[in-house]
Amino acid sequence: MIRLNALAKSVRRDLHKMHAFVRFHEVDNAGPRRAFAAWFEPEHPILQAGAPFFARRFADMDWMIATPEGVACFDGALRFLEPQVRPDLPHDASHELWQTYFINIFNPARVKIKAMKSEMPLKYWKNLPETKLIEEMLADAPRRVKAMAEAGMSNPPAFAAKVTASVRVPSPSSEPNTMQEAQKQAASCTRCSLCHDATQTVWGEGPVNASLMILGEAPGDQEDLAGRPFVGPAGRLLRTNLEDVGLAAEEIWLSNAVKHFKFVSRGKRRLHQSPNEGEIKHCRWWLDLERRLLSPRLTVALGATAASSLTGNRAPLSPRRGNVETALDGGPVLITWHPSFILRLNGPAKLKALAQFKGDLKYAAGLLQSQTLRLHGRP
Ligand code: URA
Repeated sequence: MIRLNALAKSVRRDLHKMHAFVRFHEVDNAGPRRAFAAWFEPEHPILQAGAPFFARRFADMDWMIATPEGVACFDGALRFLEPQVRPDLPHDASHELWQTYFINIFNPARVKIKAMKSEMPLKYWKNLPETKLIEEMLADAPRRVKAMAEAGMSNPPAFAAKVTASVRVPSPSSEPNTMQEAQKQAASCTRCSLCHDATQTVWGEGPVNASLMILGEAPGDQEDLAGRPFVGPAGRLLRTNLEDVGLAAEEIWLSNAVKHFKFVSRGKRRLHQSPNEGEIKHCRWWLDLERRLLSPRLTVALGATAASSLTGNRAPLSPRRGNVETALDGGPVLITWHPSFILRLNGPAKLKALAQFKGDLKYAAGLLQSQTLRLHGRP
């Protein structure tokens, strides 16, 4: 199994590299469409699996990808032919573009040869136009770093400065000292770019003297429209389970690590995206404030984003689930699954996660009953 898994991983990686590293050369074509050809040497026989990606991407041109195992040809329909000798490909002007791109993304102050070779393994280099420049750029790196240091800082272009200003942290004249004020200020938050596409800031909800805080990742589609946390499918699962263990949702402060909905549009649908490290970090300013104003006795972190935002620990969730950890502000945090994660599972795995989730909420209810909350580990 270990060998098979390693092989599967290596094939997936090879496919990924094929999609990234095939470089086409324009060739003459008698037909009405532009035609391109490429030579690629994969590590595994992946041509048939890898070619449909190019058929979707480059449906408006004729192309062929020749490899030692065979040739994929596309002229509106995809066909596979027997291997040929390596074609003698003409010079292609687009290769200068690749080189320009590569020169521009090469940062001489951050030369990481190991990482570079892992991203772009040596075996692919011989067919990549941009790699011809590497040796020269590496040799020139120390001189460029020195020149950069001597040149010092320059002003950003006016447009970049304008964009930066639009997402710059507003410096409120005074830090809010009530939850209501905090919510009001957060409504016009522009700390990160999520504010541009989301409908509104979704602030936490509940009594400001709640002893339990439940923290999710970020509002979803329905929460974004309603302006309230946990009103969509994940929220329904959470609320049912709270009720089952005797916790009243109205007595809990429900909130999210990130207060704006992040999504990509697919037609009329808005597909949820997890916030990235930067967005989580920017929103922690609000989370810290919210927690200072609330001072919960216990926090339940739903899922990895909430857990890492609260504790600063980004380790995987499974081994941590069910344990009480210490938040960066010193409060106890019980880690559990995110209800959306449970909703995505099926069969026995779903039942198991659901039982664990309910068990964790019950454990939280028990902890709140006890006079002193015991940190770490669980009986
Ligand atoms: N998922 C979350 O993490 N939070 C919500 O408010 C809703 C769904």
